[in-house]
Amino acid sequence: KRTAILISGGGSNMEALVRSMTADHPARPVLVLSNDPEAGGLAKARKLAVPTFAVDHRPYGKDRVAFEAELSRILAAAKIDLICLAGFMRVLTPGFTADWKGRMLNIHPSLLPKYKGLHTHARALEAGDTEHGCTVHEVTADLDDGPILGQAKITIEPGDTPDSLAARLLPLEHRLYPAVLRRFAAGDKSPVYL
Ligand code: GRF
Repeated sequence: KRTAILISGGGSNMEALVRSMTADHPARPVLVLSNDPEAGGLAKARKLAVPTFAVDHRPYGKDRVAFEAELSRILAAAKIDLICLAGFMRVLTPGFTADWKGRMLNIHPSLLPKYKGLHTHARALEAGDTEHGCTVHEVTADLDDGPILGQAKITIEPGDTPDSLAARLLPLEHRLYPAVLRRFAAGDKSPVYL
């Protein structure tokens, strides 16, 4: 499966995914695409010898469809079969998610269906939760809402802050996402629980 990884920032999940796609893997990292030309993940991708593209979303203003048309052009030219969103911070239109139904994954830093959207660590702390985690799911038209493909859990400790949760969760994300991708790319949608 020719795979594109979409990023907006540091790309640590992208790096973990790229490193996991060894020769025997059913997926191959063909492209890293960012909506921010300054994203740190672009330099990481170049170091990993993965072709990169940046499509700055800002010139498109509110015209999400025009922005996504440029993404689709690049994805089609690279003959992409599968998209992994990894720290990608743009909401995608129902049209784009429909085009990629069953072929687009995302990682979200909460135990979905809890805490869809932003500031998940702070919200789990505010709620007094004793556990937290991350979820890989299929992307559908509704934000952070598609079928769950994997979850990894951590316990929330006294004194935890949003930063300490994020720091403890990120290495788990780097294990969960590759484990899910290996199964999903082989056609196995059974969920992974770490
Ligand atoms: C991570 O918290 C991930 O869960 C979310 O974006 C954050 C940064 O990810 N999707 P990365 O380092 O850019 O992969």
